[in-house]
Amino acid sequence: MEHLDRRLPVAFLLLLPLLSVSCVSNKKTTVSWCVLSDAEQQKCLDLAGNATARKIRGTLQCVRGLNTRDCLNKIKNGTADAASMFADDVYAAGFCHGLELAAGESHNGVDGFSYYVVAMARRSSSDLSLLEMHERSSCHPGIRTTVGWTVPIGFLVNTSQISIGEQCNFPRAVGNFFGYSCVPGVKDVQHDPRGNNPKNLCEACIGDDNDRHICANNHRERHYGEAGALRCVAENLGDVAFVKHTTIFENLDGKNQESWALDLELEDLKLLCPDGTEAGLDEFDRCHLAAVPANAVVVRMEDKCRVWKFLERLQNAFGNATEGFRLFSSAGYGESDVLFNDATHHLQRVLGSYTSWLGPTYTTMLQAFECEGFC
Ligand SMILES: *[C@@H]1O[C@H](CO)[C@@H](O)[C@H](O)[C@H]1NC(C)=O
Ligand SMILES: *[C@@H]1O[C@H](CO)[C@@H](O)[C@H](O)[C@H]1NC(C)=O
Ligand SMILES: *[C@@H]1O[C@H](CO)[C@@H](O)[C@H](O)[C@H]1NC(C)=O
Ligand SMILES: *[C@@H]1O[C@H](CO)[C@@H](O)[C@H](O)[C@H]1NC(C)=O
Repeated sequence: MEHLDRRLPVAFLLLLPLLSVSCVSNKKTTVSWCVLSDAEQQKCLDLAGNATARKIRGTLQCVRGLNTRDCLNKIKNGTADAASMFADDVYAAGFCHGLELAAGESHNGVDGFSYYVVAMARRSSSDLSLLEMHERSSCHPGIRTTVGWTVPIGFLVNTSQISIGEQCNFPRAVGNFFGYSCVPGVKDVQHDPRGNNPKNLCEACIGDDNDRHICANNHRERHYGEAGALRCVAENLGDVAFVKHTTIFENLDGKNQESWALDLELEDLKLLCPDGTEAGLDEFDRCHLAAVPANAVVVRMEDKCRVWKFLERLQNAFGNATEGFRLFSSAGYGESDVLFNDATHHLQRVLGSYTSWLGPTYTTMLQAFECEGFC
């Protein structure tokens, strides 16, 4: 996990005493959190109320944002101070808005790692290499997802297999590259406003039991999501599925009762590695396309220290609570992963820049999309 390492340059360490002084001298004591749903808003208000009741220094306010982009704008112009975001949005926050990170989730208690993106294939498919995917067939959990789009397409661009050209039309380039694929949602108006995304990107999709909803960006498409992409390869409709390293283990041994999953055995599948070799399913720590970091708390640069100190007080009070308000539980809010991921063990401070949290491999893959001007 060397790429998620957060070793600091010596020069920065020398500056640390200075930075902590500026943290203390910052008189602002309110942190306004940008929330995106009723569930998040409720948990934020409960946290604020419980923090006040426990006399924790600082005041939490909850500001409703329309979407992630709106929250980024609010943090940038000071109408909000912080929000927790997915890795892809962290990149937009840093690259487009000059924002930084105060803290990130640690799920394993050691680092900010969340999961690996892997390329999975049937063991019986010989002559298959991640460095020669031209004309092959592929199964993706969904359009514009980290696992199913950003990472695999970023990899194919970075290895010069796909060239995007001046028009910066990713679906067209991907459609020209693969023989056929299932990329659920690629023909939705939202992702295909002109209606000219290549049809072959839906040709490995199967829709529902009645052959309807083919290529839908939801579970009615039976090849949708990570389990669906795995199914697509298991059923021999695709040569390769882009999934999480955990996907296979979540669908084996009766955990998924659908017949395709019950028929599946570990020995039937293998991983394709970025260097063109292959590996067993349990070798994901050396054979993956990217290590995706956990969610992190986006703030303005000058608030890095102040917001961290506040979060530190909050998690000391509520991070390990077994009764009353629990920071890393979403029970009672009707959804999972409200404000923070339920798998969070603790929040760790991010001292380096946002790219240190994302890691060089993952950052490189996101950079492949720069021409889209997502700012
Ligand atoms: C503390 O949190 C709980 C939910 O865990 C909530 O029901 C309660 O209203 C909160 N207390 C205050 C004072 O806001
Ligand atoms: C800050 O940005 C938000 C979101 O774009 C906007 O709604 C709000 O009007 C802005 N406020 C100020 C003071 O610029
Ligand atoms: C909860 O307790 C464990 C074990 O004592 C500790 O490692 C962890 O950091 C604590 N978590 C928080 C959020 O304080
Ligand atoms: C991107 O490509 C360069 C050169 O081909 C290679 O050195 C680098 O490791 C690649 N990065 C990733 C993330 O695959």
